[in-house]
Amino acid sequence: MKILAIETSCDDTGICILEVKKSGKSDIFKILANNTNSQVKIHREYGGVFPALAKREHQKNLPILFEKTLKVAKTKIEKIELIAVTSGPGLEPALWTGIVFAKELSEKYNIPVIPVNHMEGHIFSIFPKNSKTFKINSSEKIFPMLSLLVSGGHTELILVKDWQKYKKIGQTRDDASGEAFDKVARMLGLPYPGGPEISKLANIERENSALGRLGSATARARGIFQQKNIRAPQSTISSEITLPRPMMYSKDFDFSFSGLKTAVLYLIRDLKEKNPNILEENNTKQKIAREFEDAIVETLVYKTIKAIKEYKIKTLIVGGGVSANTYLQEVMKKEIKSNMLKTKVHFPTKSLTGDNAIMIAIAGYFQYKNKKVKKNLDSIKAKGNLSL
Ligand code: KG4
Ligand code: ZN
Repeated sequence: MKILAIETSCDDTGICILEVKKSGKSDIFKILANNTNSQVKIHREYGGVFPALAKREHQKNLPILFEKTLKVAKTKIEKIELIAVTSGPGLEPALWTGIVFAKELSEKYNIPVIPVNHMEGHIFSIFPKNSKTFKINSSEKIFPMLSLLVSGGHTELILVKDWQKYKKIGQTRDDASGEAFDKVARMLGLPYPGGPEISKLANIERENSALGRLGSATARARGIFQQKNIRAPQSTISSEITLPRPMMYSKDFDFSFSGLKTAVLYLIRDLKEKNPNILEENNTKQKIAREFEDAIVETLVYKTIKAIKEYKIKTLIVGGGVSANTYLQEVMKKEIKSNMLKTKVHFPTKSLTGDNAIMIAIAGYFQYKNKKVKKNLDSIKAKGNLSL
């Protein structure tokens, strides 16, 4: 069957067409066409996503991308058997544009529609690798699975007991990790989205510093990762530039990044009091970026490993925009190994770390297999706070 998927939850307009065929216990997916139109440049001058503008851009982009996608897929709308559309969470005005577009196609061509949870999409985003076809074997023993979802709006740990059986075991109590990256980038005068910018600076600082790739001095000094054989070298990060790891040792699996963001604000204020030009000197921006990224990554990895141990997790899936962070990928894999865990770790291929329609198509297909097609189109609504 051919599935058309639409994603408009934030600032990326995504449309794709996938073809799915059953083969024994596996589903074989073929990506016939996939188009994503990023609005990053438009939102950059606002330092974040501006909902009314996002809505206008989605409305403008959807018909163009739709035609382009059909053309690339060499198919016609009449051949589409299912439409999957993101219904939440996200920005409601943006979500509505995709939903209205899906409903219009549904009515005109009599195609069923499946509303998809965007976060569930991020979980499914790890299945396609770097080729046009991929396979999902539903009988594979991958459960219990844990998903760390890290994006601009979310930071959560989801326990996946079986296909589509989700239990949220932890979440941020305030800012999402991506949001913290974006806000701190702004304080450092870096453009939106801040994650890749901070990451770039942090990596330069790591490479320049004698600490190399062994992790931060703060982490080792506190012994948080129980690595016994690494001698703590002298930190080359100025002792002035240290940040907290909020809620790292709390008994639950929750996170908090708002205090960390405020700590960066005060740190910059204090440094500037001594030297107004400090941010432009001595690689200070780089050093702050590194300490900030260390703080976020250490907290995310520490809590994830704790959950893996507690729930005897077989498979870890990391998804969402922040999963593109190379230091998070590196530390997560390294710490799972050094904690002697057999957990298989999956990050999405680079092009699918951010928002895209492919992940919505896959999640939609699984809903379809569970007979979740909505007969009544009126029941499909944008839900900004939809939860897993
Ligand atoms: O999943 P996503 O594309 O959109 C939402 O659903 O929010 O995530 C966007 C977020 C932004 O906050 C962005 O700064 C962050 O992902 N991000 C990163 C990196 N690339 C994107 N954060 C850290 N490191 C990165 N390399
Ligand atoms: Zn997302």
